[in-house]
Amino acid sequence: MAHEKLWGGRFSEPTDKFVEEFTASIDFDKRLYHQDIRGSIAHAQMLGKQGIIPLADVERIVEGLQEILKKIEGGKFDFSVALEDIHMNIEARLSEKIGEAGKRLHTGRSRNDQVALDIRLYLRDEIVEISAYLDLLVDSLVFQAEKNLGVIMPGYTHLQTAQPILFSHHMMAYVEMFTRDKGRMEDCLRRMDLLPLGAGALAGTTFPIDREHAAELLDFPGVTRNSLDSVSDRDFALEFMAASSILMMHLSRFSEELILWSTSEFKFVELSDSFCTGSSIMPQKKNPDVPELVRGKTGRVYGNLMALLTVMKALPLAYNKDMQEDKEPLFDTIDTVKGSLKIFADMVREMRVNAGNMRSAAAKGFSTATDVAEYLVRKGMPFRDAHEVVGKTVAYCIASGKDLPDLTLEEWQGFSEKIDGDIFDCITLEASVNARAATGGTAPERVKAEIERVKAGR
Ligand code: ARG
Repeated sequence: MAHEKLWGGRFSEPTDKFVEEFTASIDFDKRLYHQDIRGSIAHAQMLGKQGIIPLADVERIVEGLQEILKKIEGGKFDFSVALEDIHMNIEARLSEKIGEAGKRLHTGRSRNDQVALDIRLYLRDEIVEISAYLDLLVDSLVFQAEKNLGVIMPGYTHLQTAQPILFSHHMMAYVEMFTRDKGRMEDCLRRMDLLPLGAGALAGTTFPIDREHAAELLDFPGVTRNSLDSVSDRDFALEFMAASSILMMHLSRFSEELILWSTSEFKFVELSDSFCTGSSIMPQKKNPDVPELVRGKTGRVYGNLMALLTVMKALPLAYNKDMQEDKEPLFDTIDTVKGSLKIFADMVREMRVNAGNMRSAAAKGFSTATDVAEYLVRKGMPFRDAHEVVGKTVAYCIASGKDLPDLTLEEWQGFSEKIDGDIFDCITLEASVNARAATGGTAPERVKAEIERVKAGR
């Protein structure tokens, strides 16, 4: 079906076909149909209430839009590239259906404030969903933390064995990260939760509109304060994408650890078969594809943020067609983040923990050396001296192929007279974690309290 351009009045020649395709956004912005219709209904109702268009027309507009909504949802709407974007596809169809009344819908409005509204409405709902997925992932982490409380693993710095920690403590570290991510999402939502409609093309409108009323109809707690800014602002999308980038960075770190922990060298965890794949040539392989792919997808989320930052860079006020490039990276970010969180929540819940391997790894690498130094401090030695003493002890162990628990009391006392028989109780893995009992430490009682705190918070 050939469509008349809604803006065709001043044109005498038809748009070049390729230009039409090149400039159209309908292929990707059709996913805003629900928000576009919802926004148009509220706009029409506001126009009616203000006596700007007849109430009878409002009724026809609302009915017509609801029919269009059903058509789209039933897959029976014929989207047209000639009509460029979702806004004009819906408006043109409405006018086809109901005539005059449909043509009054765009009174006091521009596609510039319309699209700003649609994206906000859309992103608002998506952020709520993403927050719910973050909760699911946190639940899975807490589930593992609780189930494996008491499992000791090596904690690392520089990926070198550092000190023993609880596996649960490690899981709860991610709980902290994803909780901050949720906070960032909520902050972003709070800032974007304002109605931009009423800005018109850029300068506002001559009609006596009631923006606060439209805001109420659309569940916005307020309205934007400057018409130019309202149509040229995409901060909310950028903030969301920045928060998403940080979130993906967290997921990529977790991915990396799961990949490492799944190797035959580590064997700390086993991911469920349903989250792994095999190799077409090597029969023994079980590859951690899901964490690998999530680690990889982090790159596209960063890329999306950079893409939109670059689109927005140095754009003069107000709307510019460049800004149509906001949608694909935004939508892709939403899809990627939701998919990654969903799959991680399930995968983490089903992951099996190999306590034995974690424990034997934790026992290696002189992981309780710090405990010996702190033992000496408690016996009155300055920390720097204690550090030196234990460093020498470790060097001796390395040279003689021994571990700290293998040393006899005589050997210990050769390094410091301050050392007594109670040294042996101080260098066990349990003693090491139990002793770190200040808030935020890895002692089981602490970690348990954190688990309880997190559970009580939801
Ligand atoms: N499809 C456009 C976009 O996504 C809608 C706004 C168009 N406004 C305009 N004046 N051309 O940005």
